[in-house]
Amino acid sequence: GTACLASGAAVAGVARGTAMGSPLPAPADPSAGSVVRLDFTAAERPTALPCFAGHRMPMWTFSDGAWPPVARLSLGDRLDVLLENSLPGETEHTSIHWHGIRLPNDQDGVPYLVQPPVEPGQRFRYSFVPPDTGTFFFHTHCNTAEQLGRGLVGILIVDGDTTEPYAADETVLLCDWPIDLDNGTFRSFSTTRGASKAGTYGNLRSANGGTDTEIRLPASADCRLRLIDSDRTRVMEIAIEDADAAVIAIDGIAVPPFALTSWLLAPASRLDLVIRSPREGGVARLVDRRVDPVVPLARLVGAGPAGSAQAFDPRPLRAGRIAEPDLASAERLTFSFAAGKGTALPVTDDPVERMLLGSLCLSTDAFWTINGVEWPGRDHAVIPPPLAVLRLGRSYVLTLENASQIMHPIHIHGHSFKVLSSNKRDIPVHHADTVLLMPEETVEVAFVADNPGKWMFHCHVIEHQETGMMGYVEVA
Ligand code: C2O
Ligand code: CU
Repeated sequence: GTACLASGAAVAGVARGTAMGSPLPAPADPSAGSVVRLDFTAAERPTALPCFAGHRMPMWTFSDGAWPPVARLSLGDRLDVLLENSLPGETEHTSIHWHGIRLPNDQDGVPYLVQPPVEPGQRFRYSFVPPDTGTFFFHTHCNTAEQLGRGLVGILIVDGDTTEPYAADETVLLCDWPIDLDNGTFRSFSTTRGASKAGTYGNLRSANGGTDTEIRLPASADCRLRLIDSDRTRVMEIAIEDADAAVIAIDGIAVPPFALTSWLLAPASRLDLVIRSPREGGVARLVDRRVDPVVPLARLVGAGPAGSAQAFDPRPLRAGRIAEPDLASAERLTFSFAAGKGTALPVTDDPVERMLLGSLCLSTDAFWTINGVEWPGRDHAVIPPPLAVLRLGRSYVLTLENASQIMHPIHIHGHSFKVLSSNKRDIPVHHADTVLLMPEETVEVAFVADNPGKWMFHCHVIEHQETGMMGYVEVA
């Protein structure tokens, strides 16, 4: 069946379980490296995913075949992707942003800021060597609410972090689809009401494009699950029912394993787990507890004889390769994320009315700001000055302050923050490229500004990003 849900209102208890101990082994060394070549053509491909209840939906995707596409390489390999834009219409430009990858600035996929947008009929070649192992994803950075909402996303995995083999290694990409089940059409991916509040939620939940997805795992064995929240909007409270589970990486980067009770997974965040799979025929569940009743996202089924009789004690992954910030000499900066001057009242979602209001220059949909400034426009065509200029090689401690009543997952391009502390929650020290700020929460992060260029710094609730909560820092 299909789950039809309003936005979650349950109180999310964030949790960190008991630390399981062992320090992280040394980072992996990159291999000599081969080249992984992929051709992507962004195009409309009418597709019937299991969750679409038989409807062929006008999805926009990067490739033929199974959705979502997967790019998988080993540390040291070069990823070489030729993107062609065959999206419908004459103005639908696109790009690929490699979320969480600390790559050279001109490969980062932000139109106008670091590359020209890829216009219909045009091509662009991306080529870079990801410097970190882990679970990542990639997505369009153009007209993102709609393009991402229609499916322009894929999985990116860089191998080399394991210290012992897992019985299985499965990736689960989680997102919602806003669809009108009577007509088999997409609903709006962005609305004034949603943009000014917590976002426009889809009504169909999915895991790898399916509802109530079944994942078969070797029975009674330690299996790796890589979770990706690719949704435009939804924060989930992830838990595993009826199996032991431990967190081994956050946003791709290893943490000392700790038992999972539940974890708030924000848009664009990843969470790597090890679970002890059920006995043969047994079923465990991946669920979202932020909604009431709890939503099952995937069934984890024990298949085939196998089995470990040993107690559950997952080994850590190899440590990340991210430079350690020097807190003593770090410069301190504060970024405040707040509501803007926009008002939802005079605007409708009617395109004609929007155009009229737009031509009267009423910036009625600047709902969100960073340090009191809203990004000028929904896209990147007008580039404002940077929020800050950071000195290359210098350590920074950032105070990220949510001055609103709405959650904001704050994403930095080209770097990974070390998340130090929150004024509201007990969170383990970990690395993250996307940091969830709860209402009125302040989180301290530190990092070395070691990647030169212009790096977007924005909320990953896409409607917030596209209505003001977007900026960039320049590292020079
Ligand atoms: Cu995944 Cu600028 O974002
Ligand atoms: Cu936001």
